[in-house]
Amino acid sequence: MTRIGVLTSGGDSPGMNACIRAVVRRGTSLGVEVWGIKRGFKGLINGEMEKLDNRKVGGIIQKGGTFLQTARCPEFRDPRMVREGVRRLNEAGIEGLVIIGGDGSMRGAFALHEMGIPVVGVPASIDNDVWGTDMCIGVDTALNTVLLAIDRIKDTATSHGRAFLIEVMGRESGYLALMGGLAGGAEAVLIPEKDTPLEEIARVVEEAYIKGKPHAIIIIAEGAKHKTQEVASFLTQDEVGFEVRTIILGHIQRGGSPTAFDRILASRFGVAAVDALVQGKTGVMVALVGNKVELIPLKEVISKTKGLEPEMIEMAEVLAQ
Ligand code: F6P
Repeated sequence: MTRIGVLTSGGDSPGMNACIRAVVRRGTSLGVEVWGIKRGFKGLINGEMEKLDNRKVGGIIQKGGTFLQTARCPEFRDPRMVREGVRRLNEAGIEGLVIIGGDGSMRGAFALHEMGIPVVGVPASIDNDVWGTDMCIGVDTALNTVLLAIDRIKDTATSHGRAFLIEVMGRESGYLALMGGLAGGAEAVLIPEKDTPLEEIARVVEEAYIKGKPHAIIIIAEGAKHKTQEVASFLTQDEVGFEVRTIILGHIQRGGSPTAFDRILASRFGVAAVDALVQGKTGVMVALVGNKVELIPLKEVISKTKGLEPEMIEMAEVLAQ
């Protein structure tokens, strides 16, 4: 293999730049040319690509976002669009591809693999919802951003004796909410994986008030059954003791300089992805299993759903007492 491509796709996550850097520098060290494809599968379809080298990826390891840019590309579910992508790669003489992104991107990677393009996927998503890997690139940084917000909100919640509802990202995954709640000492966590009735939330908040707690912190994943405003109205009407305030953290969670953990994970994944491609191992995703980087078939990755560990959910409830 003499020329490979790299792209970032779907929602960005801190550490994507560190991964691109690792792909380019590992490729260079093996005598493989690396081309950067802009704006994910959208850029691939349009043939937006440039040759990268070690200097072009200098000074980016500490930067959030992705200098190749990214895009949501639902069109890529259409096999005709995948065919366009394959044509573009053939035109440019790109013999293999590293695809950095979340579960949707792994589906796109598998589609290209099925059309004969050697691909290796790299899991990157703040949601940590890609099956097969313990951690995705960006999760640790996002979690620390959530934690910073929880700690600060706790200060003001305590000063005023208020209940705060803090909404974090996660349309289908409660990972950030659960781990944020655990690490931030929240009174309750609402996640898509578990239905918590409004009455139960009100009971927890009222109990916190009766116990003499100076605040109540509820973390709500954006995909939880009951939405933040609905919970706020219910708690206000139910007169749970505390005055209620809400905050939606939003895209702040996706930005920022990657933590040491994310930079190192991204570097390990980038190197492993290039090594796999060069060794002819394709149709796979690099994954962190325990503390080892392993290769998992993309077919398996996209056909399974990553859930939360029930013990973690239970632990968050026990420690919130
Ligand atoms: O990338 C994952 C994620 O951040 C989800 O947590 C969130 O639901 C979604 O992306 C938001 O997507 P967008 O930035 O396209 O609105």
